[in-house]
Amino acid sequence: MLRIGMLTSGGDCQALNAAMRGVVKGLCSKRDDVEIYGFQDGYKGLIYSNFKMLTSRDFSGILTLGGTILGTSRQPFKLMRVPDENGLDKVEAMKHTYHKLNLDCLVVLGGNGTHKTANMLSEEGLNVITLPKTIDNDLWGTDMTFGFQSAVDIATDTIDKIHTTATSHSRVFIIEVMGHKVGWVTLHAGIAGGADIILLPEIPYDINAVVDAIEKRDKAGKKFTIIAVAEGAISKGDAALSKKELKEKKEKKKYPSVAYELAERIQKKSDKEVRITVPGHTQRGGSPCPYDRVLATRLGAAAAQAILEGKYGYMLGTKNQDIIRVPLKEVAGKLKYVDPNASIIKEAKMTGISFGDE
Ligand code: F6P
Repeated sequence: MLRIGMLTSGGDCQALNAAMRGVVKGLCSKRDDVEIYGFQDGYKGLIYSNFKMLTSRDFSGILTLGGTILGTSRQPFKLMRVPDENGLDKVEAMKHTYHKLNLDCLVVLGGNGTHKTANMLSEEGLNVITLPKTIDNDLWGTDMTFGFQSAVDIATDTIDKIHTTATSHSRVFIIEVMGHKVGWVTLHAGIAGGADIILLPEIPYDINAVVDAIEKRDKAGKKFTIIAVAEGAISKGDAALSKKELKEKKEKKKYPSVAYELAERIQKKSDKEVRITVPGHTQRGGSPCPYDRVLATRLGAAAAQAILEGKYGYMLGTKNQDIIRVPLKEVAGKLKYVDPNASIIKEAKMTGISFGDE
C-alpha cells in the first residue's frame, strides 16, 4: 500500500487542482494500491487531523477547475512553533497525524511560507514532496510557478480593458496588480498590456520621474497614461526609511492600498484626473490558462515519479524547459525577486516604459 497525504496551503491560485490531478494520475498509472488522504484547509487539516479519503475518481474532471478541492488557509510559519489556544504543539500534532495514518509521503502545494513549514517537517523526519504554486512567481529554485501565467493573463486583460476607455479620456489610469514583495505579475502584465509606467517593489520610484513621464506623453500628444503598479511598490524616500520609521509613517496616514497613495501624490503635482482600478483576487480566480495546465500536469507527474522512486525532501521546479528536483532546504526562506538589471527591464525601458527610477 502507498499512502499519500496531500494538502494545499497559503493563498490559492489557478492550477492547484490540475497539479494534484497530475500527481494522482502519475501514481495510479504505476500502482493500483494508492491511498490518498486529502487534508482540509492546508496545514490546519494536518494539525487537527481533518482529512477525507479520496480516490483517483475525485481527481478526474478537475484539470480546468479553479480554486482547490481541498480548501486552503494561511498558517504563518512563525506561529508553527507557538502552541494554539488550547496549548497544542502544532508541529508535534502534524507529525502525530502523519504517523497515525502511516503515511509514506506528504505532498504539499504552496508558496513561500508553505515551503518553510514543509522544510521543517522534512527536517523533522517526514517524507515531503512539494509543488510550487503562487501567482507571484517568487519561489526560489524554479523558473516558473503555476498560477503565474494565469494571473498575468487576467491582469493583462484588465489593462487591455482600461486601455480602450483610456483612449477616450485625458486621464491617468492606475491599475494595481498583486505582489507585495515581488513585481513579476506587474512586470509581465504591464509589458503585455502596453502600460506606460510600471512600478515594482524591486525598483523604488521617484514621484517626480513618474510625473515627468506623464508630462512627456502629454507633450507628445498622448493624453492618457496607464500605470501598472504592484501592491508593494515603494518610493525612493520610503525605501530609505527604517522598518520602524516606515511603519510609523503608514500609521499616520493610512491609504486603502498603494494605488491610492500614488494617485494622491500624482495629483499634488499634476492637474490630470487620476482613476484607480484594483482587480484584486480576480487575479487568482477562474480556470487556469493552458500554460499553467501543462506546467501543473508536468510538475504533478514529476512529483509522482519522485515518490515512486522514494526521493523525498524536494520541490519540483522548472529550469529552462526541464523539470528539476530542488532540495527543500535550498528553497525555504528565499524569495526570487525581479532583478532591476535584468535584460527584460532594459528591453522594456528601450520601448519607452518608465519604471519611475530615472
Ligand atoms: O501570495 C499570493 C498573493 O495573491 C499576493 O500576490 C497577494 O498580495 C496576497 O496573496 C493576497 O493575500 P490574501 O488572499 O491573504 O489577501
